[in-house]
Amino acid sequence: MKYGFFDDERKEYVITNPQTPFPWINYLGNKDFFSLISNTAGGYSFYKDAKFRRINRYRYNNVPMDNGGRYFYINDEGTVWSPGWKPVKTELDHYECRHGLSYTSIKGEKNDIEAEVVFFVPLNALCEVQKMKLTNKSSKTKKIKLFSLIEWCLWNAEDDQNNLQRNLSTGEVEIHGSTLYHKTEYKERRNHYAFYHVNAPIQGFDTDRESFIGLYNEFSHPDAVFTGKPKNSEAHGWSPIASHCLEVELQPGESKEYIFLLGYVENTEDKKWESKGVINKTKANRTIEQFNSSEKVNRALDKLATYWDNLLSNYSIHSGNDKLDRMVNIWNQYQCMVTFNMSRSASFFEVGIGRGMGFRDSNQDLIGFIHQIPERARERIIDIASTQFEDGGAYHQYQPLTKRGNNAVGGNFNDDPLWLILSTTAYIKETGDFSILEEIVPFDNDESRAKTHFEHLKASFYHVVNNLGPHQLPLIGRADWNDCLNLNCFSKDPNESFQTTENQTGGSAESIMIAGLFVVYGKDFVELCRRIGRKDEADNAQEHVDKMVKSIKKHGWDGEWFLRAYDSFGNKVGSKDNEEGKIFIESQGWCTMAGIGKNEGMCEKALNSVKKYLDCEYGIVLNHPAFTKYVIEYGEISTYPAGYKENAGIFCHNNPWVMIGETMIGRGDQAWEYFRKICPSYLEEISDLHKTEPYAYAQMIAGKDAFKPGEAKNSWLTGTAAWTYYVITQYILGVKPSYDGLEISPCIPKTWKSYTVSRKFRGAVYEISIDNSEGVNCGIKELTINGETMHKNVIPIQKAGTINKVNVKMG
Ligand code: BGC
Ligand code: NOJ
Repeated sequence: MKYGFFDDERKEYVITNPQTPFPWINYLGNKDFFSLISNTAGGYSFYKDAKFRRINRYRYNNVPMDNGGRYFYINDEGTVWSPGWKPVKTELDHYECRHGLSYTSIKGEKNDIEAEVVFFVPLNALCEVQKMKLTNKSSKTKKIKLFSLIEWCLWNAEDDQNNLQRNLSTGEVEIHGSTLYHKTEYKERRNHYAFYHVNAPIQGFDTDRESFIGLYNEFSHPDAVFTGKPKNSEAHGWSPIASHCLEVELQPGESKEYIFLLGYVENTEDKKWESKGVINKTKANRTIEQFNSSEKVNRALDKLATYWDNLLSNYSIHSGNDKLDRMVNIWNQYQCMVTFNMSRSASFFEVGIGRGMGFRDSNQDLIGFIHQIPERARERIIDIASTQFEDGGAYHQYQPLTKRGNNAVGGNFNDDPLWLILSTTAYIKETGDFSILEEIVPFDNDESRAKTHFEHLKASFYHVVNNLGPHQLPLIGRADWNDCLNLNCFSKDPNESFQTTENQTGGSAESIMIAGLFVVYGKDFVELCRRIGRKDEADNAQEHVDKMVKSIKKHGWDGEWFLRAYDSFGNKVGSKDNEEGKIFIESQGWCTMAGIGKNEGMCEKALNSVKKYLDCEYGIVLNHPAFTKYVIEYGEISTYPAGYKENAGIFCHNNPWVMIGETMIGRGDQAWEYFRKICPSYLEEISDLHKTEPYAYAQMIAGKDAFKPGEAKNSWLTGTAAWTYYVITQYILGVKPSYDGLEISPCIPKTWKSYTVSRKFRGAVYEISIDNSEGVNCGIKELTINGETMHKNVIPIQKAGTINKVNVKMG
């Protein structure tokens, strides 16, 4: 069953039934000021950091689901309703939510009044704009009351929920005309406040939640709205809110527009006050001035559209297949921007207080983002590298506000360092900007311990070399990419966190996944060294890579597939000898990407085993058979019920690794089949099973052993976004940035006859036509650029500003 449809022309997903199987959300804001918004206007905003600068309050896992947001209420002569259906849930005569690129528009109609609200965060602004248009579609004059509502969070989202003995006494507001200010803690250590404004005179307001809603009422039934009378309440402690009340008279056929503005302001110490106890509103007024008319707001919306058109034009395809085109051209790229901005911090599954910017996560997210805004990618790479330690190890995450690493979700994940080589080399291949390697970057954010970025990459490489175990394979540390394979944890105590507990220090467990990863990015490191003339460095590194290949072949092969690990006792993990968890996806992905034993048929065998044991209707599961009992020496993985998350769930993030592996041995049909299975636009028809948005990837789809195979969870903030974008654009469609130019090497289904790719690369445009009339998976017979035949498949870098025609004949 579907709950809406794709409007490709407008780059929107249109939801026509508000009761989606899970809230289907969108993200507003591209830098600094962000909002999450569901299809019924639930969600919240924050400045930079969802934990430390939460602007409005949101209660996760609420009853009913998704309660709280930026709500509007209309009281039309006693009939009360909300344009987004929630929170009042009065049945609407018409409902439509359009999630677009960085904006959402929600339209509701009841008794001939139509209310349409467009929500967005303008470029370079610290506010969310809500443009409300009310239309009287009847033949009578209508007099209605319009109420707005947001509930303020007392800034630190974690403390806001925990420290009630203090917080219920600290809330402070200021009221000035149509602007309601939130200034809790501003008088002491904070230099920031928020405001909620409307560009029209108001009939009344409320800033105290209890007065507006009523202590025993719900969001769906606020006292003030139902009585039609704002209380003009002034919050002192308890729970500050902001609600405007407007009286609106509409003639038959008449429309009126109002601009609501939720803004954030920071002031320097000397400019905090206007007079004693009265906050300085200069910056707030400036923001209001910028967006106080429909014309100004429409212009900002146009700018946003142009911004996205530009970003998306860097890579676009025409394949004749709408489901594929809309993912590559719109939604997948969009999700890559979202994961770039959010890492794993704030979604409807990530509460915005537990996790910040992940070292491994953010490095990987970059491979789907670099082509969009390379300068921001560069800055991110340096931010991440600045949290690295001198030995190459890393904090597992940092807070976006402070950019400081922390150990809240553990440390010593021995895969972490290598992902920095991936992001940096991907950045240089896209931009040709080798100067990033010369950038002076601190270790552990300590400027006095800074070295060049190249030294950081070297430290990453040698972190693996310096941490080898008994089989000369990489020690796993706390865990590798699979956070739940905790081979040194040994936890018996339910009060211990699997992420931070390490009862077995100095453990000797080894990871074959890291081994494969090391070979892939080790080779990249070697190539990079050669390109910058560090021949000795390259030769030395190559020796370590060669040794690793040998160790994998000798100790990492199980006969039909690659082993996953050695546990702390030196026993095999992911072997035919195991009772459960005989085969794992990660090592098959990385060792085949690394081409280990390709000539001996190992890659093909391993991939055939993936197909045989791990593939299912909805994607490739992580391991097989699923664990059905707790294995203390494996940790969290065996705590999940079979078929979920890291225990034999379809953990979408890793499926592209196998797809890339398939392209390495030329199996385009298989790579595509795996791609299609987890691609959300292909799952739209089964939305009631799949549950999460048909326009965004989810982290996990329940696997074949689950109670409900095919049901997805944890949408949006997942490495799946970047990896699927990477595999489809670079390995399947086969247009790949490289140091010397654009490499063309498609690996597609035989049935695809032709497609075109438009790619902007280092300032030039490449219009690439691929002709596969011979019906092959891969191989190029003829390649011309601007009519000239090329004898290799790397198109040399063309002059910036030129438009170049590339014709490719496969065969
Ligand atoms: C989850 C992992 C996640 C980790 C984050 C675990 O419970 O299963 O997917 O990466 O928590 O800390
Ligand atoms: C989600 C985490 O964000 C990521 O870092 C990890 O690799 C996967 N879970 C797999 O456990």
